[in-house]
Amino acid sequence: MAHFETADIVLDVQNLRTHFETRWGTVKAVDGVSFTLRRGETLGIVGESGCGKSVTMLSLMRLIRTPPGRIVSGKIILDGEDLLTLPEPSMTKIRGGQMALIIQDPMTSLNPVFSIGSQVAEAIRLHQRTPKASLLQKVLEVLRKVHIPAAEVRVRDYPHQMSGGMRQRVVGAMGISCQPMVLIADEPTTSLDVTIQAQYLKLLKDLQRESGVSLIFITHDFGIVAKMCDRVAVMYAGKIVEEGDVRAIFNHPSHPYTEALLASVPKMEEDVERLYAIEGQPPALHNLPPGCAFADRCPAVMERCHAEYPHAVPVGDGHTAACWRLV
Ligand SMILES: Nc1ncnc2c1ncn2[C@@H]1O[C@H](COP(=O)(O)OP(=O)(O)OP(=O)(O)O)[C@@H](O)[C@H]1O
Ligand SMILES: [Mg+2]
Repeated sequence: MAHFETADIVLDVQNLRTHFETRWGTVKAVDGVSFTLRRGETLGIVGESGCGKSVTMLSLMRLIRTPPGRIVSGKIILDGEDLLTLPEPSMTKIRGGQMALIIQDPMTSLNPVFSIGSQVAEAIRLHQRTPKASLLQKVLEVLRKVHIPAAEVRVRDYPHQMSGGMRQRVVGAMGISCQPMVLIADEPTTSLDVTIQAQYLKLLKDLQRESGVSLIFITHDFGIVAKMCDRVAVMYAGKIVEEGDVRAIFNHPSHPYTEALLASVPKMEEDVERLYAIEGQPPALHNLPPGCAFADRCPAVMERCHAEYPHAVPVGDGHTAACWRLV
């Protein structure tokens, strides 16, 4: 979208590479990922299991454990500052402060032995000097913001005393407690039923409207992308293969992988038997061939695809795809 000014960019990720050394070889989980995130926008990142979505997000937060993992190269520029050059204590302030991550499973991101109130309090205290007397008020304020009913009572609950949906809200509350510029939600809805999921997505959208936070939304689900996102990046085997405006991606998918993903989205009126699944498996990331990693599954494969990786080319306004068919 050309009408955006560069000043609107809060996060600029350039050529990020994160590798894991394993006994089978080097796993290139993130292999040259670049994208930008603008103020107040929601960027969706989609792709099959194992394509590197979570490792990308953990890399942004510098939460990759070394060994076996290592951020090999790249830049992660948050509000003008390259996070990869910061000393660890500065990074600790940024995590949960300017940039927060809500992880996949709310049960594992809450500690079962502490009340939810004390966990939200801890998230606040880590980043803001708050006098003890007003801490409880702050905790209640964030719990109310994520619509926890009777927050003054529930604040003493332990995670197991809450429903899945309420726990999800608590994790959301911790995420927003320090008013981050960037909030990353990594598949926050997989363990929820559809009603709770819809409520949670609406909650995130409301929070975004109030605070202007930029959201990165990680999911397998194109249905969620359509509801939530302004732009989408499609990931395959550690790379972004297509990126663009949500409408452009849905109306004019340009990479055969995006086309296949969209074709596999079940439609309400369709017979389940007709559900299309993408043939074959994503490749193992420790031994990638030199060409396009999708070549073996691609219905439009050409000889060149096996030999050389295609560079991303523009296919529309703010819309790019990396496929030899488009060059
Ligand atoms: N600690 C590790 N050691 C070795 N390989 C790892 C490690 N962590 C992740 N990987 C590999 O990195 C790749 C990307 O994993 P990642 O968790 O980012 O996938 P994902 O896209 O988030 O998948 P999902 O949709 O299932 O959450 C996978 O091939 C995975 O096996
Ligand atoms: Mg993941």
